[in-house]
Order: sequence, then structure tokens, then C-alpha cells
Amino acid sequence: MLTRLGFETAALDAKLLAGHALGLDALALATRENDPVAPEAAALLADFIQRRMGGESVARIIGKKEFYGLPFQLGPATLEPRPDTELLVDLAIAALPAGGRLLDLGTGTGCIPIAILANRPDARAVATDLNPEALSIARLNAERHGVLWRLDLAQGDWFGALAAPGQGGARFDLIVSNPPYISSAVIETLAPEVKQFDPRLALDGGPDGLAPYRIIAAESGQFLAPGGQVLVEIGYDQGAAVAGLFAAAGFVDIAVHKDLNGLERVICAHQIEGQNDVRSR
Ligand SMILES: C[S@@+](CC[C@H](N)C(=O)[O-])C[C@H]1O[C@@H](n2cnc3c(N)ncnc32)[C@H](O)[C@@H]1O
Repeated sequence: MLTRLGFETAALDAKLLAGHALGLDALALATRENDPVAPEAAALLADFIQRRMGGESVARIIGKKEFYGLPFQLGPATLEPRPDTELLVDLAIAALPAGGRLLDLGTGTGCIPIAILANRPDARAVATDLNPEALSIARLNAERHGVLWRLDLAQGDWFGALAAPGQGGARFDLIVSNPPYISSAVIETLAPEVKQFDPRLALDGGPDGLAPYRIIAAESGQFLAPGGQVLVEIGYDQGAAVAGLFAAAGFVDIAVHKDLNGLERVICAHQIEGQNDVRSR
């Protein structure tokens, strides 16, 4: 049915959904193909296939997605982690100083800080999200990957989730974010997999898609330790605009990194040494 409807990965999708419905891994699915199937499992698989035909992704149906080599549980409130975001994780792992403190704004499943902490046993992190249900999923994923003891979760509107450094709050060596960056009007034109099933709060970057970057560029300075950096994921056509926002906020050494498809994907911006001291005075 999926092939007839033109799904490019029909065979793979069907195998993954069948494996999930029957509780079998890929090997068992191949070696036990002549076993009878219980009616409940067959009904479950039929339901999964119907949902896939309706445009829901296999990861959403299964409730799990692999990111940076680790499985992440999904929920209705979380974006499905994208392979594009792995570049941000690569850059963050390299940029974080020994024993460094990381802040992730808009954490969703927690995939970014959890992947970083799993590869940097010396680091600690704080992850925020506006949506408390996303934070519950992030907590579960952090626990599953054994990094919860090094990850604090905070609910709130961007930096509003944190205490200000002048009032007992921490400063960070690295601030990362994959914020919502699609302009409100463009969301309607996206594939059903994204438009109907990824939460709108995770997608909508305001009228020009840049609203979260304005806040992150303007407010990161006061939360960064001296010499700290910001790394943000961007849309393929937002490099110049987002670099401009960080430059206007006083950041230096601003670099745009391309992903494996040659598309601009991550902006890195450096704090001028001592800049936050000036601002917090
Ligand atoms: C594009 S998703 C990224 C999720 C995850 N970091 C990832 O890369 O898969 C953006 C996230 O920002 C959160 N978010 C949206 N508006 C926010 C706000 N005002 N303050 C904090 N988080 C927000 C959304 O709930 C969502 O989890």
C-alpha cells in the first residue's frame, strides 16, 4: 500500500512498523517470517500503516528516533530530532572547555545536551523549554542515557527559565540552541509530516522566522562566562541575517558552518572577553 502511494522508503517503513507492532528486531523479523501473527499484532500493524499513509513519520508512530547514535523517546510536545542538528553537537563537543558548563535553550527531547554530555563526561548542562511536557520527555531521555545527574531542566520563556547571574544564577561557557526558525507563513507550505505532527511551538519563528534569534543574540551576553560562545542552528537562508543579529549585539569571530549538504546550518559567535562584566554593571 505504501509503495502504491509513492512512499520512497515504503519497504523500510513497513519493516520498521512491523518490527514495532510484533515486538521483533530486524533479525527476528527476517528469520521468523513464516511464524503466524497474533490478530492483535496484525491489527496494530494495520493501524500503524494507516497512520503512515496519513503522513505521520515512522519515528512518531514508533515514538522513538535515533540522534547522534542514541535512541530518543518522542512525545506530542517534542520535535523529532533531525540529522542536520548533529553538526551543532559536533561543534559544541569541540568548543566546550574542560569541565565546561553548557546551556541549551528549547531542548525538546533533550537530544542536544544529552548527546553532548554522553560524549563529554567532564561537562554539566542546563536545558530549558517553554513546554513542560517536552521537559518531561527530556528528563526521561537523560535518565535513560545516564546523564540526568549532570543535567538540570528548567521551564520558561528562553532566558526567563533561569535566574540572572547577578542574582545567584550561573554563567555558561557555551550556549546552544536549535530554536524554532520557520516563518509563520511558510509553516503552512511544509510537508504533512512536519506541519501536522511536529508541534507548532517547535517550528514557528515568528513573522520572519528570526524572533528567537533576536532574543538569544540580545540576552546571551549576560549569561556567558568571559570568552564564552554561542552556537545556534539556522535555516539554510538565514546565515547573513542571524550573523548580523549577533554582530549587532557585540559578538565577534562570527562564523557560519555548512552541513554535509553544503547548506549553512550553524552560526558560532564569540563573546568579547569581559563583555558581560560591563553589561551587568
Ligand atoms: C526546533 S525545536 C528544537 C528541539 C530540540 N532542541 C531539537 O533540536 O530537536 C525548538 C524548541 O524550542 C522550544 N521553544 C519554543 N518557544 C520557546 C520559548 N519561548 N522559550 C523556550 N523554549 C521554546 C520548543 O518547545 C521546542 O522544543
